[in-house]
Amino acid sequence: MALDLSPQTQQAISRVRGRYPNAQAALIPVLHLIQDELGHLSDEALGIAAHLLELPLAHVFGVVTFYTMFHRTPPARHRLQVCSNIGCVVRAGFDAMEHLHKKLGIRVGQATTDGLFSLDEDDDMIGCNHGATVVDGPTRYRDLGPEKLDQLIDELRQRPSVEMRPDYGFPAIDVLSAFRPTPGEKVVTKNVGVPEIQKLATYQSRGGWQAFRKALGMQRPALIDEVKASNLRGRGGAGFSTGMKWSFLPKDAKQVYLVCNADESEPGTFKDRLLMVGDPHLLIEGIATSAYVLGCTHAYLFLRGELASEAKIVQAAIDEVYAAGLLGKTQSSAAGPYTLDITLHRGAGAYICGEETSLLNSLEGKRGWPRLKPPFPAVRGLFGQPTIVNNVETLMNIPDIVLRGGPAFAKLGVGKSGGTRTLSVSGHVNRPGVFELPMGITFRQLIDDYCGGMAGGRKLKGVIPGGSSMPVLDASELDVPIEFDALMTDARIKDVEVKPGVPFDMGGGKRLKTMAGSGGIVIFDETTDVVSFCATIMRFYAHESCGQCTPCREGTAWLARVCSRLAEGEGRPGDVDLLANIANGIAGNTICPLGEAAAWPMLAFLTKFRADFEAKLLARKAAS
Ligand SMILES: Cc1cc2nc3c(=O)[nH]c(=O)nc-3n(C[C@H](O)[C@H](O)[C@H](O)COP(=O)(O)O)c2cc1C
Ligand code: SF4
Ligand code: FES
Repeated sequence: MALDLSPQTQQAISRVRGRYPNAQAALIPVLHLIQDELGHLSDEALGIAAHLLELPLAHVFGVVTFYTMFHRTPPARHRLQVCSNIGCVVRAGFDAMEHLHKKLGIRVGQATTDGLFSLDEDDDMIGCNHGATVVDGPTRYRDLGPEKLDQLIDELRQRPSVEMRPDYGFPAIDVLSAFRPTPGEKVVTKNVGVPEIQKLATYQSRGGWQAFRKALGMQRPALIDEVKASNLRGRGGAGFSTGMKWSFLPKDAKQVYLVCNADESEPGTFKDRLLMVGDPHLLIEGIATSAYVLGCTHAYLFLRGELASEAKIVQAAIDEVYAAGLLGKTQSSAAGPYTLDITLHRGAGAYICGEETSLLNSLEGKRGWPRLKPPFPAVRGLFGQPTIVNNVETLMNIPDIVLRGGPAFAKLGVGKSGGTRTLSVSGHVNRPGVFELPMGITFRQLIDDYCGGMAGGRKLKGVIPGGSSMPVLDASELDVPIEFDALMTDARIKDVEVKPGVPFDMGGGKRLKTMAGSGGIVIFDETTDVVSFCATIMRFYAHESCGQCTPCREGTAWLARVCSRLAEGEGRPGDVDLLANIANGIAGNTICPLGEAAAWPMLAFLTKFRADFEAKLLARKAAS
């Protein structure tokens, strides 16, 4: 059967196979290669994958059907990819995906029966300010309002098919155009914008790989102490102390894995993508240095599948580092001879794979289903071995900590949050983009001093402080520092409520305010239809629920349904309380935090903007 594939693809498959300790783990990269060649994954193609990797066909089928980037049928004539960046959705004032669903009668992942159109969700992720964006093959259509979008569809009906890129990614976009340089100390963006920085020689001419060399001369416990003293907290969402996490690894572990989480899919978040493209060698040095500290000899970089162009840039940088002998060759170190491999692994389209245990299952060639914790990955993770999962930005801070020293890094920040903070800002501001800023500036400073104020001089209505799963803030809560602890505890932030006057209980009576999350900030103004905006967010989580837990699978679908009908003026009496009850029933009752990722924003929108939800019902009553 393997004869059906070109020799190049067969060679690529055997190279890929060699990067993993077992055949199953190579499944997703192998499926990408087969699909790139054959265009889609037919029954026969699944058979080829199963045969080559000696896996049960049923397993291959189960994996292929879990991930949105794998296609079982030939592409429609126009495979429309709709950008779902929520900052741009709020700016455009309408949800292009919902609009297309109504116009074409299909949802994400479906095709029209005439084979003319299919719909995929994707994300430019640069908060571009262009409003609705739809991609058809190599062409990107921007600034689409509802009418322009209708016209486009009517035109496309008459046009022949466009050439699809084989890797199905979005057309390359100038990711760096979202970078906003600012004065002040920089750690992770210090090289962004430097000409040719994607080349190793340029990176080295700016001090690159000195931190790795310094680390190799130090004992591992001393390095972990530096990271602890740095107060570095994870930039992927939870803000957990990196040094503390690293110290959870069992001391006697024979094999340890480090996985860099580059899955960045949290709506509103687009910093990691820019950091990877803006300074790929800093990321590789960050991974290599961290891997040495942890005693890991093979690190994996799990990259969001849609980022095909970024994969090429990062892979080219990895190849250069191998050629320079910094990877794949033994180095002498204070801990003895040390050799490291780094493998870039592309995901295949599933938001849930950003959750660390789901990511590990995906890396093992399985459906991206989150695992029950404990055991935590630090004890039992990738391939059953102790594993540390860290975010891109987190790891890019490590070289600086090694060179500057932990305490000096801590001083860059405030309180128990060391370093700087990279924020991606989108929505109704004049200057959206990616900023590396001092830890602890307020939302008001961010908007006025860095983002050029509110677009059109309009009044702010609310702020999503760290990706769409973090509870929203209203206009009275702007003077709070954008810092991990402040956002959880500051008395100026109202408690999220289950109903007016009844605070949501996070367990043990703990109140929920908000959290810093992934640093994805979405700002929306007084013209925003808050209920529609919230419905867009709820539809996202309903679509991304992996379906393992009933409260999440059913609850997120109900949140999406009820919130959407309210948004469309079809709400029923009791819907506002119903939403709160469903959300309250999800939170705390699921395997992974995706349940909370939907429930918390829902409750927060109801707490802060209840009047907007009730107004939808009143409008309906008045109309009937
Ligand atoms: C639903 C869900 C999606 C997540 N997506 C991401 C992601 O895209 N990138 C990321 O770094 N962390 C993501 N996380 C957090 C990871 O589970 C994990 O905490 C993080 O990668 C740890 O790295 P850090 O300590 O450096 O932040 C997600 C968590 C959840 C619950
Ligand atoms: S909470 Fe949702 S996404 Fe997480 S495991 Fe359960 S069903 Fe899957
Ligand atoms: S429309 Fe995609 S990032 Fe703006």
